[in-house]
Amino acid sequence: MFTPEMMESVKKVEATRDMRMGMEPRRMTADEKDALLKAFHPDYREEAFEEIKIGPNKGQKANKELVHMLHSNSRLLTDKVDLDKIDIDVDVLVIGGGGAGASAAIEAKEAGANVCIVTKLRIGDANTMMAEGGIQAADKENDSPVQHYLDAFGGGHFAARPELLRRLVMEAPDAIQWLNKLGVMFDKDEDGRMVTTHGGGTSRKRMHACKDYSGAEIMRTLRDEVLNQGIPVIEFTSAVELIKDDKGQVAGAVLLNMETGDYLVARAKTVVIATGGAGRMHYQGFPTSNHYGATADGLVLGYRAGAPLLYQDTIQYHPTGVAFPSQIYGALVTEKVRSLGAMLVNKDGEAFMHPLETRDVSAASIIRECTERGKGVDTPLGSGVWLDTPMIERLGGEGTIEKRIPAMLRMYMNYGIDMRKLPILVYPTLHYQNGGLEIGGDGFTKVIDNLLVAGEAVGGIHGRNRLMGNSLLDIIVFGRNAGKAAAARSKEVQLGKMNLDHVSAYAEELKAAGIDTGDVSPLLLPKYARHER
Ligand code: FUM
Repeated sequence: MFTPEMMESVKKVEATRDMRMGMEPRRMTADEKDALLKAFHPDYREEAFEEIKIGPNKGQKANKELVHMLHSNSRLLTDKVDLDKIDIDVDVLVIGGGGAGASAAIEAKEAGANVCIVTKLRIGDANTMMAEGGIQAADKENDSPVQHYLDAFGGGHFAARPELLRRLVMEAPDAIQWLNKLGVMFDKDEDGRMVTTHGGGTSRKRMHACKDYSGAEIMRTLRDEVLNQGIPVIEFTSAVELIKDDKGQVAGAVLLNMETGDYLVARAKTVVIATGGAGRMHYQGFPTSNHYGATADGLVLGYRAGAPLLYQDTIQYHPTGVAFPSQIYGALVTEKVRSLGAMLVNKDGEAFMHPLETRDVSAASIIRECTERGKGVDTPLGSGVWLDTPMIERLGGEGTIEKRIPAMLRMYMNYGIDMRKLPILVYPTLHYQNGGLEIGGDGFTKVIDNLLVAGEAVGGIHGRNRLMGNSLLDIIVFGRNAGKAAAARSKEVQLGKMNLDHVSAYAEELKAAGIDTGDVSPLLLPKYARHER
């Protein structure tokens, strides 16, 4: 429950609520947003970044924690693997068991390919499962993919790769229909029409949801489909290196059984990297809303094999992570809470911004409130601002919270906080990597033949900031496309002799640059994981 000091502040929030119910805080101008981002968004903290010294993005910057991984050596420099002993032989190897990986595998199988998923935890242990608020698609009469494109392009600072964003928005309505047919239980009205809401930066209500556990419902359905289709899933097994052949094309991956420590060799005509995000790298010391395995593995695998990164220096800090209670510090408080009418309010009960600014702007605004303006509420782990959740019940009627965001209600109830009656404390949390491996509109990396990337490991779909609901969408659109494209390509591929020459070449490059971190990469599990077997 809240401390006496917090309760003093709650009284001020309550005292201004009536007045705030009738107002809509003004939107910031473009110049105000730019100035705010430069001064307060973590992407602009120069001291948190470092130059990448080797590889395709040499000379560019990234958060220090990622650079450390890119500057570390492969496990396979010291652990030797016999590539002639092939354990798995497939057309399509999908690395990652989240929404993108599952979608890719389902489509590859549908196209007749021999496909296998390898995943370092269990299928569904992924950021997809943790997604709450919804999935965007322009499928209502007052909306269009063009409108969706414009919202996302502007929200991403006009940096999205047009060919990727175009695919995202054009294939969105079909993605919703595909999920609906597979059995996802979307929120629908009494006429069976999907209920849609706004997210930050959307000009139309196009967020489709399954209450506030949209990702869990989508992942449940995809996982069932993978299992029903009989697609092999190798769990608790990490990809630690890509394998190439003597033609320079990708030819599979070396896998590590996380339980026994044994290595496996997977030969594949095509490989789909669908390893997800990087929240457990805890860039700049931020807490995260991500699942336990989100350690940027795919970026390291691809980069060491020669695939360039795009926008690796931009991260999404979700504006509303839990700031209190400490037990769930950094957990996601879905943007849907603001879509339903809750305002962001400082310790004096003042609404300091429009609640549905884009995410980077909202996060920077909250950080400013808690730092420069000194208007944050002190918590045991830092500070936070109020998200005035009782407004939702006032606006939507009693019972709205239980009906629309029941998981949020339950999460807070576990700690004795009834968000229907009391506001909740929030602060930005590390949520999403905007950058990742560069791909073309067809889903293939541009420099390594037959290597595809899907989901959060891709850079460039959203530019330098992503709108809510476009990530659940991209894992479906780009996952499905990767599966179809990989299956088609695998029919043409003739593999040559497999090798790990790129691993030794990378080690040579590190040595020549005088770099020795003393670590190996990819990280696989967060630093605080227990490693004993
Ligand atoms: O706020 C949320 O529910 C998160 C959604 C997203 O990242 O797309």
